[in-house]
Amino acid sequence: MPDTQIIKTPEMERYEEETGNLAIWKGKVSNNFKNWQEKKKKEEIKKKKSEILSLSREERDRVKLEDRHQKDVDKDYKHLIVVENLHKTYLLGTTAVAALRGVDLTIDKGDFIDIMGPSGSGKTTLLNLIGGLDTPTRGKIFLEGKNIATLKDNDLADIRRENIGFVFQFYNLLPQMTALENVLVPLHFSGKLSRRGKRKRGLDLLRLVELEDRSHHTPSELSGGEQQRVAIARAFANDPSLCVLDEPTGDLDSKTGVMILNLLRDLNRRGATFIAVSHDATVSEFANRVFHMRDGKLTTEGKIGGLKETQQMELNRKLEAEMNKEKCKSMIFRYLFSNQGKTSINVGDIKNSIPNPILLNLPEHFNDILHELIKENNLNGNLDGNVLNLY
Ligand SMILES: Nc1ncnc2c1ncn2[C@@H]1O[C@H](COP(=O)(O)OP(=O)(O)OP(=O)(O)O)[C@@H](O)[C@H]1O
Ligand SMILES: [Mg+2]
Repeated sequence: MPDTQIIKTPEMERYEEETGNLAIWKGKVSNNFKNWQEKKKKEEIKKKKSEILSLSREERDRVKLEDRHQKDVDKDYKHLIVVENLHKTYLLGTTAVAALRGVDLTIDKGDFIDIMGPSGSGKTTLLNLIGGLDTPTRGKIFLEGKNIATLKDNDLADIRRENIGFVFQFYNLLPQMTALENVLVPLHFSGKLSRRGKRKRGLDLLRLVELEDRSHHTPSELSGGEQQRVAIARAFANDPSLCVLDEPTGDLDSKTGVMILNLLRDLNRRGATFIAVSHDATVSEFANRVFHMRDGKLTTEGKIGGLKETQQMELNRKLEAEMNKEKCKSMIFRYLFSNQGKTSINVGDIKNSIPNPILLNLPEHFNDILHELIKENNLNGNLDGNVLNLY
């Protein structure tokens, strides 16, 4: 007995009607049916050819042009990307998993799109198809007018290298390489730049993400946020027309996540185009178009317009206050260090050693920060009103 049962297709039924023979014999597709299928295909091509030959020359050119448009060319070139009726079904043994079930989407130059959705809804699958990492079961993806859905592996690799930048949740940097070498990886296969030119480009990209001074550090010597900044610099190495981001802040704490999103928004304002997928609602606050994905389908577009100016200012203020807190703590530490041996210190004196712009924009009361610092560093001391006693 065969493991799987073959289901009779409408074409098989036509064959049986036409010939009186069975298309499936002893659980297998019969050879006679396969031969019949081949013959039909040839007849179809012959018929089409003779139809075209019977047309006038002008009509013939029109049919050819329509065929090409149908196959490869987006009829309107307005959009950077046009996704039409995209389906992706994964086969796991004999089980089919429909990950995408008819997705339509357009992406314009300068967009920052965020797609939100629960785990398993198809977000990564969609990004992989748009980024040319995989091909769809059905549907079309036009990148600058060219349908990339039917390209073979080699051609897809060219498209990826020339047009797409990738940023993943876990940075995916090469651990033995320095930040600069990681950024240079995509340029390795591009013959456009000399050795010196590549190095300059790499350093320019690291400057863009404010990590020029860390160019010789390996990923393990960098924080999560810094690694993600290197990954963003790497994604921009070939000046891609689209950058796809799969959960770009998924592995970062919220403060670092906001810093990364601020950087992305900055790049977006300078002309970069992004499509991101996320669980995290913060990403959508930075996007200009937000979609929701559920069960392999895109549902309504959430908003157009991005963060309101006031919301953005509030977010930046919070971020700055958090950063000031860290700076403030290290300054307190320096003060205590230079006053070693003193057993009681006036809090006012510590405060006086910290510049006003930092003091005036702290997220918490100064004494609370001082208290937190004592606890965090297991210092032997306590705060008594406005006096710090150290033992
Ligand atoms: N290579 C694969 N083979 C088989 N099934 C897969 C494969 N990749 C994804 N799937 C299935 O397709 C569906 C969509 O997966 P996908 O990874 O796109 O979801 P997602 O929205 O990115 O989820 P998450 O938020 O957890 O990353 C899931 O049911 C998943 O199990
Ligand atoms: Mg995913």
